[in-house]
Amino acid sequence: MESGKGSLSMSTEDVIEECKLFYFAGMEATSVLLTWTLVILGMHPEWQDHAREEVLSVFGRDKQPNVDGLGRLKTVTMILYEVLRLYPPAVSLNRRAFKDMQIGGTTYPAGVILELPIIVVHHNPDVWGNDAHEFKPERFAEGISKATKDDQPAFFPFGWGPRICIGQNFALLEAKMALSMILQRFEFRLSPSYTHAPYTVLMLHPQHGASIMFNKI
Ligand code: HEM
Repeated sequence: MESGKGSLSMSTEDVIEECKLFYFAGMEATSVLLTWTLVILGMHPEWQDHAREEVLSVFGRDKQPNVDGLGRLKTVTMILYEVLRLYPPAVSLNRRAFKDMQIGGTTYPAGVILELPIIVVHHNPDVWGNDAHEFKPERFAEGISKATKDDQPAFFPFGWGPRICIGQNFALLEAKMALSMILQRFEFRLSPSYTHAPYTVLMLHPQHGASIMFNKI
């Protein structure tokens, strides 16, 4: 434990906990990402149209999306990043200091738990500009590193460092696949009964659900 790395072996309980995490992360985080994406594209039909044009140009109406094509979806990727910025499914991360340490001039004693508020950093105008609260996927047009003022590294919906989400590539692929299949088949708008109320119950959910109206195209 001295090194902060812990033991390299895993107990049966550790393996069971990892399996639960895979199930929970795989189901919950990716499904709320997809839910927020549908909500936001329901609010911004112009971006929904851009995304559909791109999906249709790569797959047409009938082709099942494949990995090669999904890797070419630039607008869809920008949209998913912007949704992850504004509505990160995991709103914060915790880290425990394993020994006394200094961060930014402050000393933290061993055992202190630090909370890293992803959602607050993702909305900070000093980092993203005065339009930090607006949905603007174009800020990711030149990639993640160029999306912030002065190229500050401030986008971490999947965490950071050695414990970064192991499922991030899979999650993005899954979200792109599902979104492409929806865009190939449906146009959607928010229902007038939708009330915007982001709310955290472990993950960031729409508190009153996501009422969306789908039209087959
Ligand atoms: C949009 C979808 C997802 C989001 C936003 C997300 C977010 C996160 C975050 C914030 C962490 C903590 C990282 C840290 O402490 O630095 C994490 C860890 C983890 N995630 Fe994900 N995740 C997603 C999807 C998935 C999927 C699909 C899987 C598995 C199939 C998965 C498996 C894991 C595992 C196993 C860890 C723990 C890694 C470790 O502690 O070493 N996640 N995820």
